[in-house]
Amino acid sequence: MCGIVGAVAERNVVEILLEGLKRLEYRGYDSAGVALLQSDGNLTRIRRTGKVQELADAVANSEALGSTGIAHTRWATHGGVTEANAHPHFSSERVAVVHNGIIENYVSLRNQLTEKGYRFTSDTDTETIAHTVHEELKSGKNLLNAVQSAVNTFHGAYGTVIMDKEDPSRVVVARSGSPLVIGLGLGENFIASDQMALLPVTRRFIFLEEGDVAEITRRTVDIFDKHGAPVEREVVESNIEHDAGDKGGYRHYMLKEIHEQPTVVRNALQQRITETGLAPDVFGEGADAIFKQVKHVQIIACGTSYHAGMTARYWLEQYANVSCNVEIASEFRYRKSVVHPNSLLITISQSGETADTLAALRLAKESGYMSSLTICNVPGSSLVRESDLAFMTRAGAEIGVASTKAFTTQLTAFLMLTLALGKENGMLESDESGIVAALHSLPAKLEETLAITNGIEDLAEEFADKNHSLFLGRGDQYPIAMEGALKLKEISYIHAEAYASGELKHGPLALIDDEMPVIVVAPNNELLEKLKSNVEEVRARGGIMYVFADKDAAFEGDESMRVINVPHCDSPIAPIIYTLPLQLLSYYVALIKGTDVDQPRNLAKSVTVE
Ligand code: M6R
Repeated sequence: MCGIVGAVAERNVVEILLEGLKRLEYRGYDSAGVALLQSDGNLTRIRRTGKVQELADAVANSEALGSTGIAHTRWATHGGVTEANAHPHFSSERVAVVHNGIIENYVSLRNQLTEKGYRFTSDTDTETIAHTVHEELKSGKNLLNAVQSAVNTFHGAYGTVIMDKEDPSRVVVARSGSPLVIGLGLGENFIASDQMALLPVTRRFIFLEEGDVAEITRRTVDIFDKHGAPVEREVVESNIEHDAGDKGGYRHYMLKEIHEQPTVVRNALQQRITETGLAPDVFGEGADAIFKQVKHVQIIACGTSYHAGMTARYWLEQYANVSCNVEIASEFRYRKSVVHPNSLLITISQSGETADTLAALRLAKESGYMSSLTICNVPGSSLVRESDLAFMTRAGAEIGVASTKAFTTQLTAFLMLTLALGKENGMLESDESGIVAALHSLPAKLEETLAITNGIEDLAEEFADKNHSLFLGRGDQYPIAMEGALKLKEISYIHAEAYASGELKHGPLALIDDEMPVIVVAPNNELLEKLKSNVEEVRARGGIMYVFADKDAAFEGDESMRVINVPHCDSPIAPIIYTLPLQLLSYYVALIKGTDVDQPRNLAKSVTVE
C-alpha cells in the first residue's frame, strides 16, 4: 500500500528518498512524489502518476535538492490517480505532509477548514492533515506541538510525516494504525513506513507504538506517547538482508520467491524439529505451559494467510484433537462472537501490519481469549509486538504482491503447531511420527515438485485466453484450491473460483462448458475416490480439466483431461506440495498475458488500511 520515506541529514537526501521509494515499490502504488526543504529556504515538490522511475527522471531533470525531505508512493483511496492527489500535500506553501492510512472524518475537517479560508487542491483526505497542522502553527505553536494538537482531531488511521518550511531542521511524525519506523544514522536520521526502505542507510531502527508522535532532527529523536509524555522505545538491530530486494537472476520476484521455497521451508524447520518430534519451546518462552490449557483455537487472517488458517483447521482437528474456527479478520472484527473457554487466538500474516488482522487482535485481546499467538514473517511488526507469543516463519523478505513462500512457511509453521498442541491433547503416536517424518522430507519434496515446471508452461498456453476458471479440491486441499484461484485472479486477472468439489452439484455444475477450465488438485489420499466421482461429473458435462495428481492416483489423461503428475508425498504435507504447481500455473499464465506479475493492478503488498 502507500509508502513513506523521510530524512533529515546534512547531505542531500534526494537519492536516499528515491531509493527508499524504489524499495517500497513492491507494496503497490499508483503515483509518487517528493518534497524537499532546499538550502535557499524554499519548499519544493515533484509528483508523478505511474512508476517511481518517472518521478526519479523528473527529479533528475530538476534542480531539486535538500537535506530535509519526505517522499511517498500513493495507493489511491480518496480521489483518483492524478498528480494533484499524489503526496506530499502542502498547506500555504509552508507545511508538507505525506500520509498512509485514512482520515475518516476528513469531510467534516474539510468543511471546517474551508470555512477558515483554506483552499483544497486535491480530493484526498490527507490534505486536511496539512491544513490542520498549518492552522495550529498559525497560533504560534512549534511543529511538534502543532502536530500533537492536530492529531487529536483525526479519526481513522495514519502514519504521517510533516515538514515545516519555517523550521527546516526537523520532521515530526505520528503513528496511529499505520506503521512507522525511525532509522538511526550517524548525524542523520530517517523515517519510513517499512524498514526495507532504509536498509541502504541504516540497520538500527525504532518501531513507533500506537499513538506515538516523534520529533526527528539530524542528531536527536524525541518520542512522546499518546498522552504526550516523553518515552524511550527500544532500538532494534535489523538482520534483514540488505539485498533481499534483488531478483537474483529471475525475471520476476514472484518466480524467485516460488523457487526459494525449499530453502525457506528448510530455514523455518531448522532447530525446531528433531528426529523424533518438536524441539522444546519453539513457540517461545511460556508457550508450552499455555498450550497445555488450550481447548479451542480461533484463527484470524486475510487473503492467502486466511487460506493457511483454513488448511490448519483440518490439521488441528484431525491430528491434534483441538477444535478450531477460522475467520476473515474484516468479518470477525465487526461481529459479536462467542469466546470458547481456554481459547487461543492465532493471527496469521506475512507483513504483520494488515489493518483488519491487527484490529481483530486488539479487539480479541479485550474479549477474554486465554492468549494470543501470531504466525508472522516480519520481526518487529505490529502483530509480533502486540501478541503474547510470536512464531516467525523465516521466509525472508517477500516482495511480489502475490504471496507464495510466505504461505508455504505459514503452513509449515502450522504443522509444527499441530505437533505442539497435539502433544497436550492425546495425539496418536503414529500421527506424530508421520508428521515429523513428512516435515523432514518437505524441503526435498518441494525441490522435486518445482522440477515439473515445463509441463505447467505448456498448460498455461492453453489457459491464457480464458476468462473464467474453476478450482476444485476436497478436505485439506479445498483451501489449496482457494489459494490457487486467488493466485490466478490476482496476477492474471482471470476470474477464478474455488469449490469444495462435493459442492459441485449444488450449483457450480451449471457453469461447466468447454470455455471454463477446471483445475483439480488430487493427491492420493482417502478422498481420492470421491474426488474422481466429481471429476466424472465435470467430464459428463463437457468440461475441460487440468488435474494435478499423485502419480499413483491413476488418472488417465484424454482430450477432456490433462493430467500433470505431482511427486508422491505423505498426506500431512500434501497441501504444501500441491500449492507449488498452482503458483507456477498462475505465474506462467500471467507471463503469457503480459500482466504486471509483481505489482498487479489495484493491489498492494501490505494492506494497512481497512
Ligand atoms: O500480510 P498479510 O499476510 O496479513 O496479508 C494478507 C493479504 O493481504 C495477502 O495474503 C494477500 O491476499 C496476498 N496478496 C495474496 O497473494
